[in-house]
Formats: sequence, structure tokens, C-alpha cells
Amino acid sequence: MPLPAAVLLLLLGVFPTEKKALFAVATASNSNNNGNVNYLAVERHCAGTLHRDVCRSTLWSIPDLAQKPLRSVISDVVSRAAAAVRASSSNCSSYLARPRALRVRDRLALADCLELFGHTLAQLGAAAAGLSSESVADVQTVLSAALTNQYTCLDGFSGPSASEDGRVRPFVQGRIYHAAHLVSNSLAMLRRLPSSSSSSSSSSSSSSSSSSSSSSSSSSSPPPPPPPRSSSGSSSAASSSPGRKKMQ
Ligand SMILES: *[C@@H]1O[C@H](CO)[C@@H](O)[C@H](O)[C@H]1NC(C)=O
Repeated sequence: MPLPAAVLLLLLGVFPTEKKALFAVATASNSNNNGNVNYLAVERHCAGTLHRDVCRSTLWSIPDLAQKPLRSVISDVVSRAAAAVRASSSNCSSYLARPRALRVRDRLALADCLELFGHTLAQLGAAAAGLSSESVADVQTVLSAALTNQYTCLDGFSGPSASEDGRVRPFVQGRIYHAAHLVSNSLAMLRRLPSSSSSSSSSSSSSSSSSSSSSSSSSSSPPPPPPPRSSSGSSSAASSSPGRKKMQ
């Protein structure tokens, strides 16, 4: 009897200290353990994102991640997405600059993509403005539109059959997918922002601040209407619905 009791006491005594030690390792603020703190922050923020590896590598490069509020982390991801869209844009532009090597379909698709990237950058700018203001009610809408634009762009390269998928898409799609994945991750992180679900404050309490922020954002960069996929090229790709959202 006394021996098991001693063992029990020993166990009770040892495990809490071990837990305490682990907790100290995880939360210590000295330089040796900043990696642990950042690791925990990365895992916490990236939980629930569809593109976890992209999320991890993005967040690892954000300085002082663990000290930043979620809203500011999302803002950083949105700005990385904008940089990726600009990189896609210049990538596509340089293919468009040598038209003799391009089929008509690819030329039209590239031109459509450049236009969509312009809309996307405006939408990401509006999202960043919304994240830095009080109300984030419209941020989800503009980010969803920005995500859709990337897949609408890719749709333009698709030929009538899979084998026609072409000569340009394999070169540009990696960057476009990367931009889309960053936007997708920012959307997933946005869902965990508490104020995104309770938008009641924007309607009643802060009418002056919300009206000033909305007027400033509308004067600087109005959210563009969804791009009309008109029959300019009269190609079959124009019939693909721009509103279709593919999450992948
Ligand atoms: C476009 O980007 C791809 C990598 O995603 C690269 O291989 C290619 O060389 C780039 N093309 C141009 C014209 O910059």
C-alpha cells in the first residue's frame, strides 16, 4: 500500500512539472524559443486553410508573427497575394509580347487574364483597406471575387478538348495557382476573425467612421464590377461562366 501511494505521489509531482517545463519552452520569449512561439502561431493561423504548405511558408516569412493580431496577419497574406498577382501579370505580359509564337486562343486568354489581374489587384486593395478599417463585412466578398478571377483566367486557356489545353497555360498556371492559393488561405483565415460574423457595428454605432471610410475607399479604388466575358473573341471559352468558383 505505501509503495503505490508513493508512486502516485511521485507521478502527481512529476507530470505537472514536465507540463510546466513544456509550456515554458513553448512560451518563453528568449531568442532561443522564438522559433517555438512562431511555430505555434503558424500552426494556429494555418489550421483550416486549404493550402497548408503555402500558408506555412508564407507565415514563416512574416516578422514578429506571434505578436501580430489575426487581422494584420491576413493583411500580410493579402499583400503577398497582390505581389503574386503582379508577378503573374508580368509573366503573362512577356508571353503576350511575342505574339507570333502564340495561337489566337492563347493570345485572347492572356489578354483576358491581364484584365482580370487588374480587377484582382483592385479587389485585393479593397480587401486590405477593409481589414485596416473597423468593418470587415465586405472583405470576404472582394476576396471571393479575387479568387474567382484567377480560375476564370485559367479557364480561358482551355481548348475544346483536354489535349488542346495548350502551349501557354503550362508556363503561366503555376504562378496563377500560387496567387489563388494565397487568396484562398486569406479567406480561410478571415473566417476565424470574430468581427467578420458580427457586422452589426457597421450599421448603427459608427456611422460617421464607416461612411468616411466607405467614401474614401470608393473614391480611391471602387470595387470593379465582375468582368463581362463578352463575345469579343467569339470563342467557346467565352461561354464559361465567370461566376463559377472552383476551390482547389
Ligand atoms: C513565367 O513563369 C514561369 C514559372 O512559373 C517561368 O518558367 C517562365 O520562364 C516565365 N516566363 C516568362 C516569359 O517570364
